[in-house]
Amino acid sequence: MKAIIVRPPEKGFEKKDVQIQEEGIKIRILENGICGTDREIVNGQLFAANAPGGYSFMALGHEAIGEVMEDGGDFRKGDLVMPVNRRGCGKCLNCLLGRPDFCETGEFVEAGIKGMHGFMREYIYDSPEFLVRVPPDIRNTAIMAQPLSDLEKSLEEIFSVQGRLYWKCRDGTYGCRRALVIGTGAIGILFSLLLKSRGFDVTVSNIRDPAEHETRIFEETGITYFNSSNGYSSLGNKDAFDLIVEASGSDASILPSLLSLLKNNAVLGLFGFMRSGSAVLKNTDIQNLVYKSISVVGLINGQKPHFEAAMRNLVQWKHIWPETSRSLITRTIPIDKIDEFPGLMNKKTSWEIKTKISWV
Ligand code: BGC
Ligand code: ZN
Ligand code: ZN
Repeated sequence: MKAIIVRPPEKGFEKKDVQIQEEGIKIRILENGICGTDREIVNGQLFAANAPGGYSFMALGHEAIGEVMEDGGDFRKGDLVMPVNRRGCGKCLNCLLGRPDFCETGEFVEAGIKGMHGFMREYIYDSPEFLVRVPPDIRNTAIMAQPLSDLEKSLEEIFSVQGRLYWKCRDGTYGCRRALVIGTGAIGILFSLLLKSRGFDVTVSNIRDPAEHETRIFEETGITYFNSSNGYSSLGNKDAFDLIVEASGSDASILPSLLSLLKNNAVLGLFGFMRSGSAVLKNTDIQNLVYKSISVVGLINGQKPHFEAAMRNLVQWKHIWPETSRSLITRTIPIDKIDEFPGLMNKKTSWEIKTKISWV
């Protein structure tokens, strides 16, 4: 079958006919999303990337929508599904209980990333256990459910950290809690929408003015945009944040300036991999962290309940934020045309939210 393959740690990718042995029900892939992690693998920057045992290549891709080709489990021929991308180590309790996002051994596998073939290919065979139903009503945006699943899990984790105090407002909502999301890629935009839909007061930032489609999103949803090209100091202490999420993968040196924007009892959530730099914390920065009871938490990978929550949110957003929902997919490229877009698999264009590859 036709597939997009990589050979980590080598750079590059190929569109190639390959043979892959796997078990489960047959699923025809309809589309894939391209994510920053795919690009890190293609650029040879992801040290954890490796091909599955017995193979010299790995099919790329962990964001996919497919059509079930035969009945299996609760699924019927013709159903739309999304496969879960991380699978357990088979040894630790978290993995055995369906939570490989907290794998204790680190021996989990991830489709198209680490030790398991990904979904950028004509067909996959998979167990119904790892399939999530896609509501046909959100066929166009459902690909966002994979990255959004990571964020549903992240927010659940943030709430669980904040279970240490009374974090709601007097009116029982989160409306008085200010969140800052750094970055306007798919993750930055989706995290902002998720926080907004949970009632937070949300500011999202990037080091440029917003693009037209981004402005439409911020207007419709009531999210505030901040151009951080001159740093964050103009946001000032008076406007300090209860939650900051780093979702830009930018240089690690921004960390001290982010810490200084946090209120008492706040959380700094780190999502994605910072690509360069280092952060130097002074002893007074650390005293401040302690004095203010600030939590710093690493956020990664959603599992099946988070995929399901993501699908429900996408359905809801289609109705409350129709313009925003239409703006999320910035480009769809047929598989036979990908060679006409040099750099597609290497670099995000600045205005991109999500680029899809379609197989049909
Ligand atoms: C995926 C996550 C995964 C992470 C690390 C991200 O692109 O969306 O689910 O855990 O990469 O490999
Ligand atoms: Zn991803
Ligand atoms: Zn495990």
